[in-house]
Amino acid sequence: MSNKTEKKEWIVAVDGPAGTGKSSVTKRLADELGLQHIDTGALYRGIAIRCADAGITVDFSSDEIPKISEIARGTELAFKRMPKLNPKNRLFVSGVDVTSLIRTPEISLLASKVSAIPEVRAALFDLQQSLGRSEPSILEGRDIGTVIFPDAQVKFFLTADLDERAKRRLSELEAQGADAPSFEELREQIRMRDDGDSSRAIAPLKRAADAIEIDTTHLTLDQVVARMAALIRKKMGTL
Ligand code: DC
Repeated sequence: MSNKTEKKEWIVAVDGPAGTGKSSVTKRLADELGLQHIDTGALYRGIAIRCADAGITVDFSSDEIPKISEIARGTELAFKRMPKLNPKNRLFVSGVDVTSLIRTPEISLLASKVSAIPEVRAALFDLQQSLGRSEPSILEGRDIGTVIFPDAQVKFFLTADLDERAKRRLSELEAQGADAPSFEELREQIRMRDDGDSSRAIAPLKRAADAIEIDTTHLTLDQVVARMAALIRKKMGTL
């Protein structure tokens, strides 16, 4: 029996440039609201890892695009929730847990570069949609509200000043005890990635016309989460 008011999917889309707090807020919102958290950037990073293994570097030439596209099509990507590990959501690439390898500056830049290739985006399109449709979900990325789920029930676009974003990344890396580059270097890496992600021809980073924009520069994580949770709850209650 069909029910006209039944929804096929329930999607919260969170887009925005690197370092705006997307990951932290979407993880918190997923826990608070019982939504599945899908980090779509991790999928591009998974493909970047496979490319790096195959000897592809950030300055790859156009001759290497067919090889990168083939890697993207042939890479099996899966998320698994492992509550005893940190982070709990693990990315498996062809059966191997690569979660601890995908956040280096090299993989960040390579993921950004390969994500501009149309075949790479096409290879991830169905996977993102089927993951999002499998249960009520919150997805973070660059093109969720514009391309992957243009009919998402709630869309957010997070922004923050470049200096503030570099500052946050630096504290994150320092807290992890990782070898952090200087503030200036980090700022330049983020700026380069923003430029690439916003200027690519296909599915560039941009705010969907119906997305709620939140500038997080002067807000704490708690404040951003509270504001977004209130808006999502309001929307959930009305559907
Ligand atoms: O969110 P992130 O920083 O982990 O994403 C890594 C790169 O992947 C980002 O620089 C651009 C690309 N990406 C994308 O093109 N589309 C998405 N939906 C998510 C990420």
